[in-house]
Amino acid sequence: MDELRRNEYLEAIGIDRWVSRASAAVAPAPVSVPSEPESQAPALWEALRREVASCTRCPLHATRTQGVLGVGPTHCDWLVIGEAPGAEEDKRGEPFVGAAGQLLDAMLRAIGLDRATNVYIANVLKSRPPGNRDPKPEEVAACLPYLVRQIALLRPKIMLAVGRIAAQNLLGTQLPLGKLRGQVHQFGEFNTPVVVTYHPAYLLRTPADKRKAWEDLKFARGVYQRLSQGDV
Ligand code: URA
Repeated sequence: MDELRRNEYLEAIGIDRWVSRASAAVAPAPVSVPSEPESQAPALWEALRREVASCTRCPLHATRTQGVLGVGPTHCDWLVIGEAPGAEEDKRGEPFVGAAGQLLDAMLRAIGLDRATNVYIANVLKSRPPGNRDPKPEEVAACLPYLVRQIALLRPKIMLAVGRIAAQNLLGTQLPLGKLRGQVHQFGEFNTPVVVTYHPAYLLRTPADKRKAWEDLKFARGVYQRLSQGDV
């Protein structure tokens, strides 16, 4: 990506040009190592989709419009994990399609990622909590196995947890977001690297923290580049 285009993306996020000195983001060609035999993956995705669509594991099924499994190519290196569908996502059946989703797309573009081609996006919860309240622990416990199955099918090279709820639930910690940023965590049996940043909805309310989010994104991109070169 050239400097000019990155500056345009940073402006779209709302970050001043002066923070855009990082070297050009080069997203290497997607490489993915499926944990399941390639031939089984479509059937496993379909089973997952059907289960989430008809899920009654927690009371949220009674108030949601539909379950929101996730969106994106099933062969890609990046998995972005948010909290739960909001009103717009509940209506449309796709994660991050509202205002926060637009900011998320701009954040991803700023590090050379395109939602349509090289990122899968999912949430910890597949059903919308009424009024967008925080997920309850029992809802997370009921829903997390779906995300774990998604991760096993996707085998992403890196995961970006956006927001406290996603980060804490994924990493099994109560540490505040500020303590989780700036490090590479690991998740699950594949020790998938996890980088943590702010939730785009928070950044819309607190634009002063967009600069810190940009640091996190550059950090994540650097981790990914080192992984792709076999240095991590
Ligand atoms: N916020 C989230 O965490 N996920 C969505 O899908 C939308 C908003």
